Amino acid sequence: MAGEAAIRTSMTEILPANPDGIVRAAELLRAGSLVAFGTETVYGLGGDATNATAVASIFAAKGRPRFNPLISHYPADVAAFEDVVASSVARRLADAFWPGPLTLVLPRKAGSHVSLIAAAGLDTLAVRIPAQRDALLLLAAVNRPVAAPSANRSGQVSPTTAAHVLEGLRGRIAAVLDSGPCAVGVESTVLDLSGARPVLLRPGGVTAEAIEAIVGPIETGAPPAATDVVRSPGQLASHYAPSLPVRMDARDVAPDEALLAFGPPCQGAGLVYQLSETAELVQAAARLFDGLRWLDAEGTRRGLHNIAVMPVPERGLGRALNDRLRRAAAPRG
Ligand code: TXA
Ligand code: MG
Repeated sequence: MAGEAAIRTSMTEILPANPDGIVRAAELLRAGSLVAFGTETVYGLGGDATNATAVASIFAAKGRPRFNPLISHYPADVAAFEDVVASSVARRLADAFWPGPLTLVLPRKAGSHVSLIAAAGLDTLAVRIPAQRDALLLLAAVNRPVAAPSANRSGQVSPTTAAHVLEGLRGRIAAVLDSGPCAVGVESTVLDLSGARPVLLRPGGVTAEAIEAIVGPIETGAPPAATDVVRSPGQLASHYAPSLPVRMDARDVAPDEALLAFGPPCQGAGLVYQLSETAELVQAAARLFDGLRWLDAEGTRRGLHNIAVMPVPERGLGRALNDRLRRAAAPRG
């Protein structure tokens, strides 16, 4: 691919999440380099959000086909609310869920230093405070908003360990700060508060039920469609795709299929990854992306043709799980 060589760095530093590692990661980010770091949801591919070149290199490293808007990450709500206009609903949600897996889309303040390319030229900005101690220390040390999409190559499964990050991005980014596996395991909930009523753009780590308990009924964005016109690129139908095709709501398993199990596995399954033996959604979410990656690699090695996924209930975190699985199962475009 043209331009590929230009973004290849000689090596990717693997930094431990200790004070020295965090100082080094912050130094690299402040200098405009890219550093992946763990959050409670998934690993983010961080770049200085106020530096247009750094942000552009995020898209290059991911191989994103176009400039999708990115989430800006902050160590505290005071800092986030310097870049966006916070409504009272936004403040209530921030009080309830930050730090945590909730991203708020709000009107961007005129004085915001976040580069326009980070928000893909929109007049809104997505902001979030991750609930991960090392991420918060890093963000405080950088002392600038950090733009960070999930640290995977475009269209691939999101990373929940530093090893997953390196599988896709080794040699393409300056460093990865290894803070261990992500506790939540699915991306943040994206809630658009820029219009008259809150709209759920992406189900995620904070459940719609929990949000509605605070602000009342929220609208759900249009169902995913494989079109170019999307409010949130996470809404593209095919996304989070392993290389093997995915079959959802499997109540049986064929001999040429790997099985992603939720609760007691279907009869006759050979290659199985168990999301949660006891069918607990929190545990299943934390294991989802690792399971898809592992079944994809191991299933391919064994010559299997499909990943069958057992049904996951459509409630609480199950909505985020099913959303990611539907995208993994969607026809590839
Ligand atoms: O958990 C997460 O959110 C992770 C970690 C690293 O924080 N990040 C993440 O980023 O998932 P990304 O780029 O993979 O997904 C961001 C989502 C996309 O669906 C994007 O379209 C949406 O947020 N988004 C960002 N800014 C937006 C904006 N101004 N308006 C509407 N949607 C926006
Ligand atoms: Mg992503």
